[in-house]
Amino acid sequence: MRIGSEEHKELFCRTFIDGHKPYEPAELAWPDLDEISLARLRAIPVWTMALEVEHSAGTMLNGYASSETDPLVRRAIELQAFEEERHGRLLDYMVQKYALKVNPQEIVQRPTRAAFVDFGYNECVDSFAGFGIFRLAVDAQILPDALTSLLQRILIEEAHHIVFFINWIAWDRTRRGLHGSLLQALPTLVAYLTAIVRRVKSGGDMAGGDAKRDEDGPVLDLFSDVVSGLTPAKFVRACLEENDRYMSEFDPRLLRPTFIPTLARIALAILEWVEWLRGTNRREARA
Ligand SMILES: [Fe+2]
Ligand SMILES: [Fe+2]
Repeated sequence: MRIGSEEHKELFCRTFIDGHKPYEPAELAWPDLDEISLARLRAIPVWTMALEVEHSAGTMLNGYASSETDPLVRRAIELQAFEEERHGRLLDYMVQKYALKVNPQEIVQRPTRAAFVDFGYNECVDSFAGFGIFRLAVDAQILPDALTSLLQRILIEEAHHIVFFINWIAWDRTRRGLHGSLLQALPTLVAYLTAIVRRVKSGGDMAGGDAKRDEDGPVLDLFSDVVSGLTPAKFVRACLEENDRYMSEFDPRLLRPTFIPTLARIALAILEWVEWLRGTNRREARA
């Protein structure tokens, strides 16, 4: 199968459309939480940003879909818009049920191709980190399984979004005359670097946002189970393992995001080497 061909388009659109699961957030079996789980959930500093992203994405994607001339691609983007809106409604439901503290601003994005492309690369960066953070949180049991199993569906949907996006952008660039991965490498590199810079900046804003506004006590104490024993290498390894697991679910003929996982593999090799060196130094000091 040639990337950018009709066959490729059919495969990535059908995979996305057929992977859609119908459900409504209010119909899910939301558990009641004990005090410690509630305190942990409220202290997670992402809710404001997540609400802003999900609510603005649905509107932007719907607007952009209406300008897409290919009916199958348009249907897939409309479905993604629906899923992002549903993520927004799911978060709204959680905010209400668990009295989460949020202060979202309304973000208006123009429904352009550039906005869709920026959004897609942001999702590739966010999902990779999200996969690892979620896995560490589940392993440490910081929230009950009854809740994490509900939240898992967001990650599964995000995995579908990023695979759809990576294939769509390769197909769309081919449609615009950029044939082959070599010609597409430069715009891909620029887009990823820009997405990383955006995320580093918004990560800084977030660190000064919800978490600092929390006045209920020392936030880190609530997450001591996750934080204890956590090293940068352990975090990157969790991201990579989970990314590989989610990506293995897709048809092998489809493209997957590779830039961030490749960077992470290089980073992990360096981190493991540093850990090994430290271990060797410690053993020599003891000898
Ligand atoms: Fe989403
Ligand atoms: Fe998404």
